[in-house]
Amino acid sequence: AGVFTFDPGFTSTASCESQITYIDGDEGTLLYRGYPIDQLADNASFIEVAYLLQNGELPNAKELEEFDWTIRRHTMLHDQFDQFFRGFRRDAHPMAIMVGTVGALSAFYHDSTDVNDPKARLIASHRMIAKMPTIAARAYKYHVGQPFVTPQNDLDYASNFLQMCFAVPAEKYEVSPTLARAMDKIFTLHADHEQNASTSTVRLAGSSGANPFACIAAGIASLWGPAHGGANEAALNMLAEIGSVENIPEYVAKAKDKNDPFRLMGFGHRVYKNYDPRAKVMRETCHAVLDELGVRNDPLLAVAMELEKIALEDPYFVEKKLYPNIDFYSGITLKAMGFPTEMFTVLFALARTVGWIAQWSEMIEDPSQKIGRPRQAFTGATARDFVGIDKR
Ligand code: CMC
Repeated sequence: AGVFTFDPGFTSTASCESQITYIDGDEGTLLYRGYPIDQLADNASFIEVAYLLQNGELPNAKELEEFDWTIRRHTMLHDQFDQFFRGFRRDAHPMAIMVGTVGALSAFYHDSTDVNDPKARLIASHRMIAKMPTIAARAYKYHVGQPFVTPQNDLDYASNFLQMCFAVPAEKYEVSPTLARAMDKIFTLHADHEQNASTSTVRLAGSSGANPFACIAAGIASLWGPAHGGANEAALNMLAEIGSVENIPEYVAKAKDKNDPFRLMGFGHRVYKNYDPRAKVMRETCHAVLDELGVRNDPLLAVAMELEKIALEDPYFVEKKLYPNIDFYSGITLKAMGFPTEMFTVLFALARTVGWIAQWSEMIEDPSQKIGRPRQAFTGATARDFVGIDKR
């Protein structure tokens, strides 16, 4: 027996000390290492942000060049790794492919699985950041039945990812700078978010000394759920289900009905009880992409814009502080860019990998780190004597 604090959903438990990301949910503030998310999204590249999260400071020009070069040098996957993709059913969900293949990295890169060796940890983090776009793009290509595209290391991180997704051997593909910039911003906005479910999962898995590839695979599994990273896919599916503006009142009524489990996907947040600062930037990016692609007439967009208006005005949403969150706008943007909904959470996982790795490294380097071992409030049967099967 013992006295424990009962805190289901960990709504009031700080599980660790961290210097990486700061959130003030009431103010709607998000800082990476002290820098506001909107300033980073507007001025820094995702690779710069990855360096910042990992090292605590923005890189100078030389440090950035070196880091960028290191990441580009690690983008290839072991050739045998491709067989792993081919083992999946061709209609496999790309997130299922991600969970499996990222976990399998530890079987390919044994020399960077020693958690106690700082050099191995650094190489593992470089490998993870560099290979994630290659894996994500292969998950996409496999899903749509097209040949894999080799990474092109003369391209920046986002452009390289877009060409690996959208280039086909029969056609010349040129990455649109506007779309590449939007992709890069989307990555930055998703890069870290302190101790959310998937990051806590990575830390919990890592607290036992498990190798970093396995820990990131655990994070991907946790991210997959519709209440977390899966919300962008769920939001788009919901917009498609609503279909047209006339049907919105019926769905809004369902969302408000206490006896109906339906929720408006892409609205609300555990921590933000104010406008999600990422959603603000994402909203602008969303409009820039829609203008660039000239897809303003998409009927789903009309549904989205009307829903946004309702959520910002209807007393139910206003009182409960259910603002549109990042997933609401990222879903619309990614769809316009040509990604199928099944890929949305994969892109989130790709971007969040830099946060997961930074959080994992911080934990491993923390001398007070212990294995994560929550207790429970036991509500089951008290001690009783075994009953033979003939008496049950
Ligand atoms: N639609 C309708 N009602 C809602 C919604 C919603 N999307 N979200 C919360 N509520 C209501 C909920 O019914 C509850 O009402 P009451 O107080 O009357 O019982 C109240 O608002 C508080 O909800 P909660 O479930 O206690 O809040 P939570 O902090 O546990 O949940 C959440 C946060 C994000 C899981 C939830 O808002 C939700 O399910 N949203 C939809 C899914 C979504 O968009 N998730 C993405 C989150 S952002 C990115 C990420 O973290 O990955």
